[in-house]
Amino acid sequence: MKAPPAPPHEGPLSVDARGNISGSGAPQLTMGPYTFAPEIPRIVRYPNDPDHPVTIGAYGSIGNVEFVVGGNHRVDWVSTFAFRHVLGLPGAASDGCPSSAGPIVVGSDVWIGRDVTILSGVSIGHGAVIGARSVVAKDVRPYAIVVGNPAREVRRRFSDERVEALLASEWWTWPPAEVLSIVDLLNGADIERFLEYAASRGGRA
Ligand SMILES: CC(C)(COP(=O)(O)OP(=O)(O)OC[C@H]1O[C@@H](n2cnc3c(N)ncnc32)[C@H](O)[C@@H]1OP(=O)(O)O)[C@@H](O)C(=O)NCCC(=O)NCCS
Repeated sequence: MKAPPAPPHEGPLSVDARGNISGSGAPQLTMGPYTFAPEIPRIVRYPNDPDHPVTIGAYGSIGNVEFVVGGNHRVDWVSTFAFRHVLGLPGAASDGCPSSAGPIVVGSDVWIGRDVTILSGVSIGHGAVIGARSVVAKDVRPYAIVVGNPAREVRRRFSDERVEALLASEWWTWPPAEVLSIVDLLNGADIERFLEYAASRGGRA
């Protein structure tokens, strides 16, 4: 069944384990201001998985992505079958199977294409792009474009120098009213003009 879309939101939006937006349960997923998701992302969590949240920054474009926050079996054991967990044997909740590689953190201004899977412990940098049907198992650099299974970087959106300047601007933390007033700069290809504006206005607030 198709998940509902994230409603428009000027502030952070949280989703609980039942998929309820701003529900009463502990937030499993947080999306920063304006982050757009035509389907609320699926959080795949297994019993005994640590309660790691998924955090997405602001102004993201999030396709129908699946975040697998745990469910790793021990490949260094004789058997990957989770005997204690499945059969309810002593030590079931504490033997380290299943396990998670840690929280998932997605930066701001990240575009994630359709049918993407992101595994536990992964951090995706600001401005990155994840191609359709990618499986992301490792961290993604800011402003990198990654594709495939396993997802590999094909290029960076801009030169390293421009990436540093864009990161330094932290435009996604500026007051939303200001951000909306410079849409022509943000949805345009004149990076230098944007960076001149960023330099002229100074720091974060
Ligand atoms: C990744 C993407 C953004 C294109 O980025 P790009 O930097 O312009 O990449 P290119 O088109 O130049 O392709 C670079 C290489 O990656 C390959 N590639 C592109 N997208 C790919 C994908 N999703 N999976 C696997 N390989 C992919 C290309 O075939 C090309 O391979 P080559 O170097 O061997 O020729 C685009 O292909 C994509 O996946 N868009 C997502 C669309 C989507 O899901 N939209 C839903 C609404 S959010």
